[in-house]
Amino acid sequence: MTRKSRLLTAGSVIVLVALMVALLLMWRPAIAPVSTPPATSFDAQTRVAGARVVALGDCIVCHTAKGGRPFAGGLPLATPFGTIYATNITPDPETGIGNWSLTAFKRALRDGVSRDGHLLYPAFPYIHFTRISDSDIAAAYAYLMTREPVNATTPANDLVFPLNFRPPLALWNLQFLHAGPRPPDTSKDARWNRGKLLVDGLGHCASCHSPLNLIGGEKAGHGFDGGVVDGWEAPALNALSAAPKPWTQDQLVMYLRSGRASEHGAAAGPMLPVTRDLATVPDEDVQAIAAYILSIQKPTSSDADIPLDAKLANLAATQPGAALFAASCAQCHGPAAPMQSIGERPSLAFSTAVNAATPRNAIQMMLSGNGWHGEDRENYMPAFSQIYDDHQIAELASYIRATYSQRGPWQDVATMAARIRQENHAR
Ligand code: HEC
Ligand code: HEC
Ligand code: HEC
Repeated sequence: MTRKSRLLTAGSVIVLVALMVALLLMWRPAIAPVSTPPATSFDAQTRVAGARVVALGDCIVCHTAKGGRPFAGGLPLATPFGTIYATNITPDPETGIGNWSLTAFKRALRDGVSRDGHLLYPAFPYIHFTRISDSDIAAAYAYLMTREPVNATTPANDLVFPLNFRPPLALWNLQFLHAGPRPPDTSKDARWNRGKLLVDGLGHCASCHSPLNLIGGEKAGHGFDGGVVDGWEAPALNALSAAPKPWTQDQLVMYLRSGRASEHGAAAGPMLPVTRDLATVPDEDVQAIAAYILSIQKPTSSDADIPLDAKLANLAATQPGAALFAASCAQCHGPAAPMQSIGERPSLAFSTAVNAATPRNAIQMMLSGNGWHGEDRENYMPAFSQIYDDHQIAELASYIRATYSQRGPWQDVATMAARIRQENHAR
């Protein structure tokens, strides 16, 4: 044998062994179907506990299509690898999880395996849900099994080859899934441990707030350094936070429950539905989440960095965006705006978006606005995507940056505005 053919043979043996190992790993048995458990088999207390678990896990956010029935699936989730549709998790036996036993449900949340044995894509955050306790899983099951069954077939995923083929997920899981709940850290108090469990488990906060690597896993050692989701930046929540004023327990709780904090800004984009869900859970859960998040931050700046509006107006008045700002933004964001003077709307100087390293969220906010949602209409901001072109959006972004932040100017703002507009369009 030549050297080359020996190498080739050795290579094919390695590939063959790897394939066999992968096949073994990816083989999961089906769990026998059951008949849908009657509502009477779950007590009221468990169902109420389940509502809390399901809210903390944002299950409804992903599992409900725009204008669709709750939990009936069909929402397209855009990933760099194509589109994945969230499935129907109503108790419909044919198209939902009506014939799933608790064992099958638990395996899906802990191991990312469907009832029939196929592996689930990590767009479903099972790598976080794996930490949920047995009793919380049972409660979520009771809650979901007592929802209205909806017969709705989930559209087929549209993924690039070879990811449309599920078995290789077994290899992904080897690296990123550390199955099962974690023991509490006994050096910390109960609230901190509850917070960590909610943040890392049910709340799956890191799935948005951490950077992802090329194969869609969370980058090791960079937890909560900030990530990008649906065209928005999910800001760093750790010591890298760009918030100009350090978060406090009260401000975090206010933000997480109402989507607005008087010394920061508003929750927009993909964070908005998270805060809607957190508004429905007991205060102690949000207090615990906030306590844990605070423990991973350390103040990066002091109030001294925050410019006062009054000083600013003249400072940046000569900037090209000044006239646009006066025409379209000042009635809400200017120093004389009524909401600002009664202290309900923070100055843009407090905004993480305005102080961030990139203009992404400031641009998104201008292009997309923040929809009108009845009870939290204080958070309403109109969308300017139809009103201003990329160049004007860039002028506005540069103007608010110069006016409200001490951090240097953003570069290539118009290019980013064009890119974000395109991304939004494609979505
Ligand atoms: C970030 C979006 C997201 C969230 C949040 C989410 N899911 Fe899912 N879930 C998905 C996607 C996407 C799939 C389909 C994955 C696939 O087809 O491989 C899925 C699949 C499932 C499945 C498997 C269904 C089947 O037919 O195989 C179950 C069960 C499930 N989710 C339950 C839940 C529960 C319970 C919660 C809340 C605790 C939840 N999900 C929260 C995105 C999400
Ligand atoms: C679906 C993705 C997603 C999930 C899940 C998510 N976030 Fe966010 N979060 C975002 C985005 C995007 C922003 C930026 C919103 C904006 O600028 O208005 C954000 C903003 C925030 C902010 C404000 C940061 C700042 O400095 O302004 C906090 C605090 C926060 N999230 C905490 C959490 C916590 C705690 C969880 C888990 C319970 C969580 N997030 C889950 C996407 C997400
Ligand atoms: C009708 C009132 C209104 C108008 C007009 C308006 N905004 Fe807003 N804007 C809001 C509200 C409400 C928020 C969310 C709460 C907050 O942060 O003050 C917001 C948030 C923002 C944010 C994000 C701050 C954060 O981190 O939460 C930016 C950036 C912003 N606006 C820029 C602009 C610019 C630039 C214009 C003009 C092109 C404009 N806004 C026009 C009401 C308005």
